[in-house]
Amino acid sequence: MILTDHERAMADGEAGDAVAAAMKILVEYGQILGAERLVETDNVCGATIFGKRHSKVLGTTDPSTLFSRFALNSDTPLDVPSVRAHSCQLIGPRDSKHYRLQGLTEQEHQEASASEAYLASRGVSILNTCTPYQVGNNPRFGEHCAWMESSAVVYINSVLGARTNTEGRESAAAAMLTGRTPYAGLHVDENRRGTDLLRVEVEMTTTFDWNVLGYFVGGVLGDSIPVLDGGGPFTPDPVSLKQFGAAAASSGDVELYHIPGVTAEARSIEEAFGGRAPDQRIVFTQTDFDRTVAELNATATGDDIDFVMIGCPHASLNQLRDVARLLEGRTVSPDVALWVFTPSALREVADRSGWLETIERAGARVLSDTCPAIGQFVPPGTRRFATDSAKQAHYLPAIAKVEGRFGSTEACIDAAVTGRWSA
Ligand code: F3S
Repeated sequence: MILTDHERAMADGEAGDAVAAAMKILVEYGQILGAERLVETDNVCGATIFGKRHSKVLGTTDPSTLFSRFALNSDTPLDVPSVRAHSCQLIGPRDSKHYRLQGLTEQEHQEASASEAYLASRGVSILNTCTPYQVGNNPRFGEHCAWMESSAVVYINSVLGARTNTEGRESAAAAMLTGRTPYAGLHVDENRRGTDLLRVEVEMTTTFDWNVLGYFVGGVLGDSIPVLDGGGPFTPDPVSLKQFGAAAASSGDVELYHIPGVTAEARSIEEAFGGRAPDQRIVFTQTDFDRTVAELNATATGDDIDFVMIGCPHASLNQLRDVARLLEGRTVSPDVALWVFTPSALREVADRSGWLETIERAGARVLSDTCPAIGQFVPPGTRRFATDSAKQAHYLPAIAKVEGRFGSTEACIDAAVTGRWSA
């Protein structure tokens, strides 16, 4: 790999051992990707808050030791300097306000707080969400980024036209400390063209529809770059695009898609393919739609619901408002826990807007900073949950050993109130 003089100096330790360890990670990772050089980045999102699972492995809660080992592959605690790139912490293992709901102890909460404080002291913004683009980190068109979190990666690549591969913890931490990431994959123009044409023969009107389509796309196309053709203009709102990408990145590895007239890099189907012919032409029919919904409900053996999860990826302001409206004048069943997940900054807005009070008066809770899949928790005694997110329906049954129901937000709120799934 060709390094600039400055990169060579960082690799040789002139900026300290931690930066040298970061450069070693980037060079090895870049060689695996086939990169000939690195590219500058000033926008990195990683996940380096460490909690009980990590401290148990090393037998220490020292944040510096945990960061050195798990983020920089060093068995020796390193003196980690301030980050060079603008850096944000993604979603983490615990809600700083509602950690007891998660079943965490005061000590486990304090460990996560110490890890957060350590990051903040190095200049990392503690966003604590899987949707940084909803709370102030909106990369510009064409900007080279280094982000973890598949749902965020596919959103900024597709909707905003920023450029990132799906980073891991170590490569994101290395990018934070060096301001560099390998110039490969989706950083390169020619790798961003569409590969497969998806003809959509179902009318796409609701966010639920986009969830289903996303899950179908990922399952059928894996890590391809789909181009959607609806025979007319699509008009998904940002929430639908958020849910679509998250679903496609969970059933498959979709990191970029093009919707002509909607997403950033494709005004037409021809432009999306960049002059190439599609590798495959796929059709999405009503039969595919129904089969996908059935697949997402396949783990459920009954209709009693113990837990309802809204906000995967973290809920937008519109979604919080909608949940509040759907709960107005209603009460969550005493046999059900209804938890809504959103960035802490949006929880604050929901509080000031009165939506939080409406939601909590109904008996629901609004959580932040984490989610059941990442934090690996569900309310005690949960056997069957319901969600309006194809991604959460995909992951949580395997992670928490529970059954899952998937449907619209309205169906989920109804289930929270009645304790029964009736969609
Ligand atoms: Fe976010 Fe957790 Fe879903 S990280 S995308 S809420 S699985």
